[in-house]
This record gives sequence, structure tokens and C-alpha cells, in this order.
Amino acid sequence: MDLSFQTLLCALDDEGIATVTVNRPDKLNALNAQVIDELDACFRDLESNPKVRGVLLTGAGPKSFVAGADIARFTELNVESGHAFALRGQEVFNRVENLGKPVIAAVNGYALGGGCELAMACHLRVASENARFGQPEVNLGILPGYGGTQRLPRIVGRGRALEMILTGEPITAARAYEIGLVNRVVGADDLQAAAREMLTGILAKAPLAVRMALDAIRMSDVVLDQGLEYEAVLFGQACATRDFKEGVAAFLERRPARFDGN
Ligand code: COA
Repeated sequence: MDLSFQTLLCALDDEGIATVTVNRPDKLNALNAQVIDELDACFRDLESNPKVRGVLLTGAGPKSFVAGADIARFTELNVESGHAFALRGQEVFNRVENLGKPVIAAVNGYALGGGCELAMACHLRVASENARFGQPEVNLGILPGYGGTQRLPRIVGRGRALEMILTGEPITAARAYEIGLVNRVVGADDLQAAAREMLTGILAKAPLAVRMALDAIRMSDVVLDQGLEYEAVLFGQACATRDFKEGVAAFLERRPARFDGN
């Protein structure tokens, strides 16, 4: 297994548990193209390595799991590149979801935008009390593009998903637990142990049964792929708007955005 990545830490222990840590703490672990490429390569390795039985996914530092896709890169996006950008993230997140081995997100802080979407591509989520979940894309003039419009309503129900996606407001870990977005909330110091304990419990069950259950639950949702494609098309269209340029510029200039609907 290739453990040498620049934006990820990947470690495999004697019990077959791989811990993958997104490691750009100075940028709150935002997902740039390199992180996406390395997650792709890493999860390919995890899939093919028979020693790997399950995965814990987390973010480096005390503050953030993943604070979203890298907004600094958004200035380059147009209809075509925006569509491709969304499809690429979706492809990698699908690889996480379709690993065939249990993947648990240990959410140690901000899980915003692509970070919330990455956590949702994992099978289960354990959060620290300081975690915050949100889909703030509307603040930037876009919609979620890494599967959020599809996975969030499936996990929390359409009404709650609409509230999060249309308001862009983050929610606390306690609220995320209340609406079923996370499976467990623990103190920050207990997070890694709690996620590991949950995974170890699953790994004590019959591995083929676990794999088949993951497969069957994924198959219960054959229209997910169509929804993802539609999301990517709309994401590309949103990238062509003036409001998107304004939203990104406002974030980078640390000022409120002024949207005019164009
Ligand atoms: N993309 C690129 N850089 C990001 C980022 C993102 N999604 N989120 C945070 N960063 C960077 C900041 O630009 C800053 O970099 P700098 O130190 O070089 O200026 C660094 O990470 C620290 O973030 P900062 O905003 O100073 O921390 P904060 O504690 O004041 O605020 C957040 C934390 C999460 C509330 C804020 O960073 C934020 O709103 N991030 C964007 C979240 C978002 O909209 N994600 C969805 C994108 S689709």
C-alpha cells in the first residue's frame, strides 16, 4: 500500500484499520485537486489491499474535518470545467461509498460544503461536540456539487436537507445528531477512540455479511447516479453566473456578497 501522500496521512494498524487524515490544517483541510487525486489513489489502495478491513476518515488539527472544496480554485470555473469539477469529486466520493469495507468519518470540527459531502459519503459519522455541519454553497452563488443535493435528503429527509442547503446555515453536532446526520457525538478528546470502537464492533461481525449489507443498501438507491449527474450539470451552469463570481470574490475579500440574480 502506498502510504506516501502530500495532503493525506494514511496509516494501517495490526487490526486492519486504516486511518486516513486529510492534512492541510492551515487551510482547514479544504479539498484542492491534489487532495481529491490523493483520496482517489488512497481509496483505490484501500480497496485492493486485503489487509485493510475498515477505514476511519478524519481531518488534521482540532478545528476542522474539511471546510469544503478549495474556494481559491473556484475563480477558474466555467460551465464545462464546473461540470467536470463536480463529476470528479463525485467520482472520488463514490469510491469512498463503494469501497466494500466500512468507512466511518470521525468529524473533528468544520464539515462544510465538500466536507459535509465527504462525511456523508462515509457509511457512518461520529462527531466531536465542536463539529459544525453545513452546505454553505448558496453563499457563493452555487449549489452543492459533490453529492450534497442527493445524499443529504437521503440521510436527513427532504425538509431538513432543503433547510440546510437553501439557508446555507451551519448546524451544531447536537443538532446533526438530532436529525440523524451523525450517529454519535462525543467530546473532542474521545472522538478517535469512539470512531474506532464503532468500527471495531462492525469488524467483529461476519465480513461477507457486512460487505453484502453495504452493497444491498447502496443498490436500494439506483437513481442516485442520475441525481448526481443532474447535480453536476447544474453546478456547471451555476459556475457561469455573475453571482458565482461575486460570491467567490466576496469570500476571498472577506466581505458580504451582493447578489443580483444573474
Ligand atoms: N477553501 C479555501 N480556503 C479555505 C476554505 C475553503 N473552503 N475554508 C477555509 N479556508 C482557508 C481560509 O481562506 C484561511 O486561509 P488564510 O489563512 O491563508 O487566509 C484559512 O483556511 C483559515 O480559515 P479562516 O476563514 O481564517 O478561519 P475562521 O476560523 O475565521 O473561519 C470558516 C472558519 C470555516 C467559518 C471559514 O473558513 C469559512 O467560511 N470557510 C469556507 C466554508 C465554505 O464555504 N465551504 C464550502 C465551499 S463550497
